Formats: sequence, C-alpha cells, structure tokens
Amino acid sequence: MRPTYAVINLSNLKKNFINIRKKIGQAKVMAVVKANAYGHGVKEVVNSLNSLGKNRPEYFAVAICDEAVELRKLNVKQPILVFEPFEKNEADSVFRYKIIPTVFEDFHLKELLNAKRRLIGKVHLDERIKVHVKVDTGMNRLGIRYDKAFDFIEKLSKNNKFLIDGVYTHFATSDETDKTFANLQLKRFNELLNDLKKKNINYGLAHSANSGAIIDMPDSYFDMVRPGISLYGYYPSEDTSESFPLYPVMSLISRVASIKEIFPIETVSYGRLFTASQKTKIISVPIGYADGFVRNLTNKAQAIINGKIYNLVGRVTMDRIMFEINNHEVKIGDKVILLGKEKDLEINAWDWSKILNTIPYEITCNISKRVPRIYKN
Ligand SMILES: Cc1ncc(COP(=O)(O)O)c(C=O)c1O
Repeated sequence: MRPTYAVINLSNLKKNFINIRKKIGQAKVMAVVKANAYGHGVKEVVNSLNSLGKNRPEYFAVAICDEAVELRKLNVKQPILVFEPFEKNEADSVFRYKIIPTVFEDFHLKELLNAKRRLIGKVHLDERIKVHVKVDTGMNRLGIRYDKAFDFIEKLSKNNKFLIDGVYTHFATSDETDKTFANLQLKRFNELLNDLKKKNINYGLAHSANSGAIIDMPDSYFDMVRPGISLYGYYPSEDTSESFPLYPVMSLISRVASIKEIFPIETVSYGRLFTASQKTKIISVPIGYADGFVRNLTNKAQAIINGKIYNLVGRVTMDRIMFEINNHEVKIGDKVILLGKEKDLEINAWDWSKILNTIPYEITCNISKRVPRIYKN
C-alpha cells in the first residue's frame, strides 16, 4: 500500500463542536456534513458527533438528496435537511428516507404531493410533509425572495398537507470584516419573522448562521445554527475574529520514497521549472494532483520532515512530488507532513489556500478518494 494518507483527528472535531456549542448558548446545532463532511469522511464524522451524547447535533444538513440517503443508511436518526432543491426523480426518497426537503417554489410542493400519492401503501407516510423554506435575503442563489416570502409561507402554513419545520436564509458575507451587507440580510430575515409572528404563523425553527455568523454575529443564532467549516477546524476566512479556538481535523501525510543527488543546472520534473544552483539532494514523495495535491502548488508548497521545513521543487505530477533537502539527514521512509503539525511547525489548509487563491473548504474537499482516511480518536 502506498504510504500516503489523511489523518482525521476526531477529538479535534469534537472539541470544535463543543466550542461552537459553548459559543451559541441555547440554540440547536445543525451539523453541515455535505460533500463527505468536507472531505473528512461522513460516516466517521457523524458517528463521532453522535458519540457526544446529549451534546450531539440536533439536526444534520447535506447538499443533495443522495447524501441524505447515505446518512439514513448509516442509521442517523436525527432530522436531515437537504439544502439544494430536490430533483423530480428524488422526491420519492424524501418519503422513503424521511428527509426534510428545502422548498421555495410552488412546483416543489406539487412534486412532493405527487410523490406522496405514488407511495401510499408502499411506505410509512407521516400525515404532513415536513419542509424547511429557504428565504433569499440577498445571496441571490437559492430561495424565495425575502419580499415575496411572507405570502409563500402564509399560504403554505394554511395547507394542512405540509408542516413548516423551519425557515432559513444564508449569508453572503458573514465572514467579511465589513458586516454591512450581512446585517442587511439579517434585518430582512428578522422583518419577515416578525411579520410571521404578528400573524401567528408557525414557521418552526428559524436558522441563518453559518460559521462566519456563528463566530461574529450572535444576533443571527435564532433557534439553530449551521456550522460547516468550523467543525473541521478552520475559520471561514482570515477576516473573522477568532473568538473561540478551532483545531484543524485533517492532516495529510506521506513518506520519503526516494532520494537522489543532482548537480548544478540539472532540473527537476516536467517543464524543468526548477534548476539546481548547487549540488543538492532531491526526495520524491508519492502523492500528486490525482490525490488533491493541486498542480498549482508547483514550486510553492512546503513539507515538514524530521522537524524541518523543506520546499517543493519542480512541477507537481499526477502521482509524485519532489522536495529539495540539500545535504540534510533524511532517509527513505521518513515521515513527510504535507498538512499538519510537528512541535511548533505547522502547515495548514490556509497555507495552501494563499498559494492557490482559494479557501480551506476547497482544499479538504479536494483530497481525493485515493487517499485513505485514517481515523484517530
Ligand atoms: C445553506 C448553508 N448553510 C450552512 C453552510 C455552512 O457554511 P460554513 O461551512 O461556512 O460554516 C453552508 C455551506 O456552504 C450552506 O450552504
């Protein structure tokens, strides 16, 4: 077996979760575990969070219906919300697997009713179909516009075939220093909730806060919060405060696979993008862009080996990368930390993000299936 793996530190996951709980007080938590728990492995993440007893998440959320079905097959008992609107051919799964769909169009309601009719006598059906209504307060991606939402929700609340279990919105800029727009979204959402309250319309749980808002917008907690990236140990941007500690959950490890000596003006890897200026040693490490070690890290990433930092040299290839170790004592088989910590040295997903002009979300999601996840408690 190739000695390349991701270590998933489940005790860090649990610490992050508990820190979020402490921060938010009484609100419930909907743990966001879409995209294979941001690349960390949904089964182990969910089981680990569920091992927290009375502290475990009250809800889980995923992006797509298949992910919710997977959670049910893993025996998850909590309510599961799907953020993306379901496809017509997924409506049956909503009932078969007791999934909560996001709705914001009349045709979503029609499709649910059609599916329910099809399934009469085939599966156990609750009297009313539980839904969460997504309200678009300015993100302009998904949801019913905030100024049209009252009518939609009022009408839905009168339809006894449905039960509004929740109403939610999503922030575009909660992780930015300037909260002007996030506060405008919050104000629009608050106004809607107040209008609904005035008319005694039961909208279930109100929720809006992603990690950025959990960290910096306590007025946005309402009845439930929806942390994603913070569970996995990262602040959503470098502009939020760091008002509670988070610990990265994923490390990426490999081993020194070969060592060779090269001489001045000799070059390394495709395209010859690194030229030795002196006699030096080059090691190769068995990981590449097929594993999520992105090609644009060429000549830019670093690794920790035996307590020292080394520079990646030459182009990242599909299966292998190279580092210059000069004349240091490094042996075949020595551990190579590509993401992770050793003593006071650390390379984390922010270091890659700065090189790649992205965010840690993309880094952890991109670590491919080919990299086995090793779970550590
Ligand atoms: C609707 C919704 N809520 C919550 C989250 C979690 O966001 P974050 O990972 O920034 O905490 C996401 C993630 O994209 C989302 O789409």
